[in-house]
Amino acid sequence: MMTRGLVIVASLLAVTHALYFHIAETERKCFIEEIPDETMVIGNYKVQLHDPNTNGYADYPSIGMHVEVKDPEEKVILSKLYLSEGRFTFTSHTPGEHTICLYSNSSSWFAGAQLRIHLDIQAGEHTQDYVQVDQIQKEQNYQRYREERFRQTSESTNQRVLWWSIGQTLVLVCTGAWQMRHLKGFFEAKKLV
Ligand SMILES: *[C@@H]1O[C@H](CO)[C@@H](O)[C@H](O)[C@H]1NC(C)=O
Repeated sequence: MMTRGLVIVASLLAVTHALYFHIAETERKCFIEEIPDETMVIGNYKVQLHDPNTNGYADYPSIGMHVEVKDPEEKVILSKLYLSEGRFTFTSHTPGEHTICLYSNSSSWFAGAQLRIHLDIQAGEHTQDYVQVDQIQKEQNYQRYREERFRQTSESTNQRVLWWSIGQTLVLVCTGAWQMRHLKGFFEAKKLV
């Protein structure tokens, strides 16, 4: 049980890599990801625009990003226009090479300015495992609760057993004392002592 939990947790820490790349405003950039089936993939991205004055990159909120994902059979499983910063998610249904393409919705006719795109793709193991980990956690919490209840019951039982023994001892002492007195009276009455 424990080992199984650990294996699942380890597999959740699966593949994750962050990078950034440069593209021209109208360029399209694609990545190929090896993904097993029934796997959830989360991509976080952010677009920045090259600023020739500072030679640095600044946020570019007015631009939108198209994200297109194709499965190994070239079927489009995600195609959407997102904001300049955000997250896309999809779940694979066929194992193999998935193509993830990103391009801006810039309407500029020529190549335009240079963009820097920060991208971080996380591919977990099987999506069902998230549910399973959750289930394991619930089960562990329940076992903890049961253990606590059981401990409380046995503690209170112990206490009662203790009081019961004390009561029994008192009764025995009283009975003994009463018998001794009674017998003493009896022997004295019969003048045997
Ligand atoms: C690109 O997308 C962004 C965000 O959706 C939007 O604000 C902007 O108007 C779009 N630009 C063009 C040229 O379509």
